[in-house]
Amino acid sequence: MAKKQILSWQEVKNPSRTDFKNRFICGDTLEVMRSMPDASIDLIITSPPYNLKNSTGNGMKDGRGGKWSNAALMNGYNGHHDCMPQDKYNQWQKECLVEMMRLLKDDGAIFYNHKWRVQNGLLQHRHDIVSDFPVRQIIIWQRKGGINFNKGYFLPTYEVIYMIAKKKFKLAPKANKHGDVWQFTQEMNNPHPAPFPIPLIKRIIESTEAQTVLDPFMGSGTTAIAAKLLKRDFIGIDLSLEYCEMARERLNNYNEQEILI
Ligand SMILES: C[S@@+](CC[C@H](N)C(=O)[O-])C[C@H]1O[C@@H](n2cnc3c(N)ncnc32)[C@H](O)[C@@H]1O
Repeated sequence: MAKKQILSWQEVKNPSRTDFKNRFICGDTLEVMRSMPDASIDLIITSPPYNLKNSTGNGMKDGRGGKWSNAALMNGYNGHHDCMPQDKYNQWQKECLVEMMRLLKDDGAIFYNHKWRVQNGLLQHRHDIVSDFPVRQIIIWQRKGGINFNKGYFLPTYEVIYMIAKKKFKLAPKANKHGDVWQFTQEMNNPHPAPFPIPLIKRIIESTEAQTVLDPFMGSGTTAIAAKLLKRDFIGIDLSLEYCEMARERLNNYNEQEILI
């Protein structure tokens, strides 16, 4: 019988269940991660919800205005409103990082993608989230454009990827030639409101020798597709069944030739 690709949280909770690999798990990421064994993952790549809807700056006055009013993210995510009080959001993200660190092997790393922004005149550089973790390097992902702008702001075109690495983590041979500013066009043809571009994730995975890659905020399954292209294993978690189904659909039907790498 074909392996079931989407598992529910109830199925994951079953203590006899250990085969998470190459599956999407539909559930709350903290609960799901807490049910997974210590030191079982080589690499984590993820982009959490950014809590964008409580923003008052960086071109998103009150979360509205300019092109933002037409952006799909204006509606938050299916199942997650993306508008938490900032201190609660920071605490949640720290708890997620604690779990990710527990799941990582001692030569593993987390590539944690986020966005800096100015809020009420103060730069939020995500120090509130990552300062307790071993950030080894910051990679700038330069996009070809942005959606969250209005006439009072220069178009924001970058995001930040924190490389949070355990002591024994090493890059694959020659990977350091990529430098720390990476240019990748954002994904255009994807119904998910905030997808990664596949080539960006492929760059991260092939810069390591990781075999098992986890994305605890999997969305439309980009990390799974990049892992499969590179013959690595993935585990994907998302709260939304609709996004898990979208991810399964993309994973089973992507056309390798159409992915520019
Ligand atoms: C920025 S998106 C990730 C997009 C993904 N990188 C992709 O390429 O499609 C964040 C995702 O987190 C999911 N999410 C929000 N809250 C969650 C939670 N508590 N547990 C699991 N997933 C959650 C949302 O459904 C959304 O798909």
